[in-house]
Amino acid sequence: MQHLVDTTGLSDGQIRAIIDDAARFKKHRPTALLRDKLLITLFFENSTRTRSSFEVAAKKLGASVVHLDPSRSSTNKGETLEDTFANLCAMEPDGVIIRHWDNETPRILADMEMTSVINAGAGKDTHPTQALLDLFTMQEHLGSLEGKSIAIVGDIASSRVAHSGMRLFPRMGMKVHLVAPDAFMPETDEFPRHAALAEIIDEVDVVMSLRAQLERHDMPIFEDYNEYAREYCITPELFGDRDILLLHPGPVMRNIDISDEMLKDPRCKVLEQVTNGVYIRMAVLKLLLLDS
Ligand code: CP
Repeated sequence: MQHLVDTTGLSDGQIRAIIDDAARFKKHRPTALLRDKLLITLFFENSTRTRSSFEVAAKKLGASVVHLDPSRSSTNKGETLEDTFANLCAMEPDGVIIRHWDNETPRILADMEMTSVINAGAGKDTHPTQALLDLFTMQEHLGSLEGKSIAIVGDIASSRVAHSGMRLFPRMGMKVHLVAPDAFMPETDEFPRHAALAEIIDEVDVVMSLRAQLERHDMPIFEDYNEYAREYCITPELFGDRDILLLHPGPVMRNIDISDEMLKDPRCKVLEQVTNGVYIRMAVLKLLLLDS
């Protein structure tokens, strides 16, 4: 039984297969490869993109999808997460797609070995399908990523997107720079750290902007995010005429993470990331439910 807890559990060959399948699915609509499969989505945190993207991906491959809304489930009557999961597994799904606020939840459920567990974002640490779709989007524009550089800008410490990317992108030969104020900088000294994007902008091929994850802060970090934006908002003035891809996992805080004008700039690939997310999730479902 194969799970997707993070991309660290995928071999290089499996990552290549996911990217190749995603590219093929984007070119030619596939047949209903997962016609007889049933997936259950279980999202303990809000989602616009990931949940609907998984559902669209599953349906494009002919699978059935059932969603359990935890706010209306028996978790509110005291049922443990493990018991909720075991009861869903008793309905014999082929996989459960889970988003949870705790870093360890996908691993704990995967270790129960009851069905294939697919991590749709856990705590501050892992969001493997986002990292894969970011990889796919960068490869589409840049070809090989060997020797390319990415600056990750914003609330890196609280970002599961950043942490999954920081594990995946160097595997592809990319150099990662971290750009953030001290309060948003993670403790790792594995990557070069910068207080301002201007310090490194001439050396990078990609900028990934991140939202301030206010819901994960124990106390307010900045009183005024307009002040933060003066340093970290991505604008046409900051980018100039440089040939740089701009990524953001969403949701974008307009004029704090990225300016209105920059969101319309052709270098900004935010909606392309969302489109690619469907193809990547199709490829992930194929790998986990059919090829493993
Ligand atoms: N990128 C991402 O995880 O977006 P959602 O929170 O809307 O799913």
